Amino acid sequence: MKTELVRISKDLNKEDLENIKRAGEILKSGGLVSFPTETVYGLGANGLDETAVKKIYKAKGRPSDNPLILHISSIDQLDELAEDVSPEARRAIDTFWPGPITFIFKKKSTIPDLITGGLDTVAVRMPDHDLARQILDAAGVAIAAPSANTSGRPSPTRAQHVMDDLAGKIDMIVDGGSSGIGIESTVVDLSGDTPLVLRPGKITIEEIRKILANVEEDKSIIKQDIVPKSPGQKYRHYAPSGEMVLFTGSIDSIIKEMSKRSKEDFKKGKKVAILATDETIDSYDLDEKIVIKSLGSREDEDTIAANLFSSLRELDSLGIEKIYAEGTGYDDLGLAIMNRMIKAADGNIVKL
Ligand code: TXA
Ligand code: MG
Repeated sequence: MKTELVRISKDLNKEDLENIKRAGEILKSGGLVSFPTETVYGLGANGLDETAVKKIYKAKGRPSDNPLILHISSIDQLDELAEDVSPEARRAIDTFWPGPITFIFKKKSTIPDLITGGLDTVAVRMPDHDLARQILDAAGVAIAAPSANTSGRPSPTRAQHVMDDLAGKIDMIVDGGSSGIGIESTVVDLSGDTPLVLRPGKITIEEIRKILANVEEDKSIIKQDIVPKSPGQKYRHYAPSGEMVLFTGSIDSIIKEMSKRSKEDFKKGKKVAILATDETIDSYDLDEKIVIKSLGSREDEDTIAANLFSSLRELDSLGIEKIYAEGTGYDDLGLAIMNRMIKAADGNIVKL
């Protein structure tokens, strides 16, 4: 299959509008289209068409028990997908949608089992991204869209990342520039008595607690040894090809230990990289050939989140075999960043 790449400009000229319409038609008629959202690029298919949804699992190499998020462009569409939406859930929706947050509800019986991995619940999100919503509008149906990466790899934040993983496997990629947030949506289960954060994201538990006072957090978010409640969270994830080790604790000890280990590996002939921050990048004592990158300032978690996946992909393209990465704190967006880093490192964490 030839994958068509279309670039959409900010000012939406006539050709852009035609391409958006065509993306919608491809989706509606059972094809696969990748499009940007404010979190990461998604790989869309008609969410009520089982044959189309099957193609998503095949293109990504995704395990079939890992359910998908249905994307909508208007809140009205929710009534066709979800049962028992409580008044508290409505408040949360009104506060946070459109936005980088996915809610899980009891599902309507019309939703294919393939979408929900056989669960009786369904995940729904309304993205805060004009182009994404225009494409969803053009399709006119709820669109199933996981992140548009090969299963297990870091999520894509640019059209080129989608090309790298899925060229030849999907019909179209709509390039609308970089995804600003850079990590996937917060996932909150509203189907039980207590709202539960299953995946941390840009919208933090503190913000959710202002609307849903009894919200809790799935403890597996930062612990590798607890089985997560969300099927997708149990897999090795967000992972570069190189082996990653994550360091937490006092920053001076981290710099010392990461310098030492990377030099040892380098001497053994390994391709090594260090993921540092603006505050620390000049403090490492390294051989010149060791790759070192800053994810951004430790004071600016938004930038660190936005750079994380693209940096991991960049290290892959350099053929890096071993990555030593500085951890951030767990406060605010730090929890979501650390959740992705812990999974990228497959639980390989050194506490100093
Ligand atoms: O930001 C995002 O959410 C992006 C963009 C494209 O919208 N999408 C995304 O989809 O990250 P995906 O498939 O990569 O991640 C969806 C997560 C998985 O961890 C999955 O297991 C979980 O949501 N999930 C989906 N439906 C669920 C359900 N009914 N119960 C529990 N977890 C569910
Ligand atoms: Mg994903």
